[in-house]
Amino acid sequence: MGKPVDPKPVEALTADEASGELRALADEIAAHDKAYHQDDAPTVSDAAYDALRRRFDAIEARFPELQLADGPSQKVGAPARSGFSKVHHTVPMLSLGNAFDEADVVEFCQRVARFLKLDEPPEMLAEIKIDGVSLSLRYEDGALVQAATRGDGAVGEDVTANVRTIEDVPEKLTGAPAVLEVRGEVYMEREDFAALNRAQEAAGKQMFVNPRNSAAGSLRQLDPSVTAGRPLRFFGYSWGEASEPLADTQSGWRDRFAEMGFKLNEPARLCRGPDEMLAYHRQIIDRRVTLAFDIDGVVYKVNRLDLQERLGFVSRAPRWAIAHKFAAEQAQTVINDIRIQVGRTGALTPVAELEPVTVGGVVVSRATLHNQDEIARKDIRVGDRVVVQRAGDVIPQVVSVVLEHRPKDSAPFDFPSACPECGSDAIRPEGEAVRRCTGGLTCPAQIVERLRHFVSRDAFDIDGLGDKLIRQFWDEGWVTTPGDLFRLEEKNRQAEQPLQEREGWGEKSVSNLFAAIEARRTIPLDRFIYALGIRQVGQATARLLARHYESLDALRTAMEEARDPESAAYLELIDIDQIGAAVAQDLIGFFAEDHNKTVLDDLAALLTIEPLAPVAQTDSPVAGKTMVFTGSLERMSRAEAKVRAEALGAKVASSVSKKTDIVVVGADAGSKARKAAELGITVMDEAGWLATLGEG
Ligand code: IVH
Repeated sequence: MGKPVDPKPVEALTADEASGELRALADEIAAHDKAYHQDDAPTVSDAAYDALRRRFDAIEARFPELQLADGPSQKVGAPARSGFSKVHHTVPMLSLGNAFDEADVVEFCQRVARFLKLDEPPEMLAEIKIDGVSLSLRYEDGALVQAATRGDGAVGEDVTANVRTIEDVPEKLTGAPAVLEVRGEVYMEREDFAALNRAQEAAGKQMFVNPRNSAAGSLRQLDPSVTAGRPLRFFGYSWGEASEPLADTQSGWRDRFAEMGFKLNEPARLCRGPDEMLAYHRQIIDRRVTLAFDIDGVVYKVNRLDLQERLGFVSRAPRWAIAHKFAAEQAQTVINDIRIQVGRTGALTPVAELEPVTVGGVVVSRATLHNQDEIARKDIRVGDRVVVQRAGDVIPQVVSVVLEHRPKDSAPFDFPSACPECGSDAIRPEGEAVRRCTGGLTCPAQIVERLRHFVSRDAFDIDGLGDKLIRQFWDEGWVTTPGDLFRLEEKNRQAEQPLQEREGWGEKSVSNLFAAIEARRTIPLDRFIYALGIRQVGQATARLLARHYESLDALRTAMEEARDPESAAYLELIDIDQIGAAVAQDLIGFFAEDHNKTVLDDLAALLTIEPLAPVAQTDSPVAGKTMVFTGSLERMSRAEAKVRAEALGAKVASSVSKKTDIVVVGADAGSKARKAAELGITVMDEAGWLATLGEG
């Protein structure tokens, strides 16, 4: 590569020359991008690359009408930050819900049985939960073609070259179907980890905190020969895409994995009922120290795959599995200070700054103190020696104060009644645990936290725009409202000291940031709603709203109308399953506020907000219909019926009204069935519903 850049000044170019050169530059830049991001093998220096980009940008700026549809300025999606290219998982890589005690496990069993309408919970496979890094291995015709990390579950990083150096990962499988994605955990044994750290120390290199971090760091080396020198191992326990099922149970798949040459996470056991599951859990706790690697709990999975399929998923986790975590680990340390953090809804949260201490292999220097009452109840003071604990990924907590060590001059903590960030009154309504800053959007902490939420992973997911940068952009006055993010590039262009001239920035990192922002000008409605950070509106509620109202305009109009609690719009809102009066109040309140209206108008003008891609069928007999289930069904729970109706494209409501199209009536149906008859709505019995499902 390396065609010399045309020396003719941009000002002197004719439109024809410009057009030809733009095309040539675009192709050359694209080739460098591929070499850099996908092949991990850059073909030019950063400076030379930047020169090409500058030239391209300058020509494009002078001849905007010549803009190329596929030019570098139009690239959607920032390249993987780390230098690995991205992999879209065809089947998402999910996480697991957690159980922390025996009651949670019993509850899980009951939930599963209830959903499936069984008297007893179905057989469960219990496995150990390894504390490593999850990985998806794609085999085509039995040959390993790609290995990807989990990433955010939808998009991970391509670590194929590194994974090929792991001995436990077979290059070829015998008896595999045409496509098979094997999923499992990359981990490091404790002794290997200790030896690696000794070697790192001797060589004056960075040491790792625990085997998990060390496995993650080793997997994400840019140079595969470094990974090859690291003692990584792999267990298979799950799968993604598969062109043919290998078995009809979870345990059957395990057996097939073993036959194909994978190591399995042992011991595993089939259990009937919570007693056997809990016995397995206790046994694993006893054996924990004898295992060569760290585990952080056990996982229970419904063994039959047909039942798994019926149970399906809630957000990112399957309904058919749960992780039963081990009890928290504890340690003692001293509280150096208590700071008050102000969140995006103005909540004041006290945080203990701790003398750093290792708890269960991780260094902890902060712990949440929850709220004012919690501090008072435990009488936690600055200078106290305290017991802290950490369970799984949960934020560390202060359990108790070791009173014998309390300094003589200590004083109870005085919880502020003004916001430490903006000085506004911080008030605590009767009966609430949380004290809130009343500054609203005049409080910098609240604005910055809202902006952080706006760009966070489940919201706009803007790569490279971290907490520090948001704060910095705010401090400089570049970003004070979400819409400003989409004007950043312009701001930077006009800035006295643009980013690319600052320490720690280069042309490339700046253009990557802007590309990541540009890529989000088109955004699905559910992410958009979630990004607004409305109180009580999490991902699941945002999705419900997006599905129900289908556009931002429709949602806004409905929320304005719903201010009148007598209105049809209000009834429609609270009739959406899982939306109650409290959430409705927060929603209506949000859309009624003037400054929120301004933010929404601004964003609507800047963005393309897309309706949700229909996951549901559109050609089923109930597609687009509003259904109500009432009475009890024999063959499935109401929860399952609802999930399946939605999968067929129906909307499910909780009460019968003129808008209802179909009422499915089970045994002992009461007033809803009567009301349906009165209104002349189509009524279906269980047999009719099963026929609709094709199971009649
Ligand atoms: S099953 C759909 N089984 O734990 C469920 N996960 O907290 C897929 N993990 O991301 C996961 N041991 O990285 C499963 N025996 C096991 C596991 C296991 C460790 C990890 C995995 C997952 C995370 C969820």
